[in-house]
Amino acid sequence: MHQTLIAREDLERRVTELAADIDRDYQDCENLLCIGVLKGSVFFMVDLLKQLQVPLAVDFFQTASYGSDTEPGEVRIRKDLDLAVRGKHVLLIEDIVDTGFTLRTILDLLKFRGAASVKLCALLDKPSRRQIDVPIDYRGFAIEDKFVIGYGLDYDERYRNLPYIAVLEE
Ligand code: XMP
Ligand code: MG
Repeated sequence: MHQTLIAREDLERRVTELAADIDRDYQDCENLLCIGVLKGSVFFMVDLLKQLQVPLAVDFFQTASYGSDTEPGEVRIRKDLDLAVRGKHVLLIEDIVDTGFTLRTILDLLKFRGAASVKLCALLDKPSRRQIDVPIDYRGFAIEDKFVIGYGLDYDERYRNLPYIAVLEE
């Protein structure tokens, strides 16, 4: 079996804490747009957003890299947003920040499109892998450089439905 890295209860507790922080920071915001990056962020995003009181809209991006899945490459948009970004306060929700290339590209695009503000919420962070600086405003957990699966994260499209985060067995 795969070794558990973050247990279900620890995920639940941290997601609740992040939701409280976000709710507090956006309490007076009337045009919050929460954008998930498909597909990995979906499980985390649903759990997080269900705990927010602030009014919000939901949209999704899907990206792909021209490099391999774990090495940086040119980022392309596979599925664009449905909603306009101009004037919105955007909260971008990601499963994991690795090299930072994907997030940097998306953050720049959202600013270019005229978002009033852009903040990043990432469940996991692999700081030792970072190649390009991306500020994470709401961070769930910092982890070591191991390939992880579960709670949205996949290996070849498998394991997304695990209710915990595990280290993939080599
Ligand atoms: P960058 O390098 O642009 O990449 O920050 C972020 C994307 O890389 C994938 N990624 C992983 N996916 N387990 C996964 O299932 C991992 O340990 C992992 N590390 C990086 C992921 O698609 C993320 O959006
Ligand atoms: Mg993947």
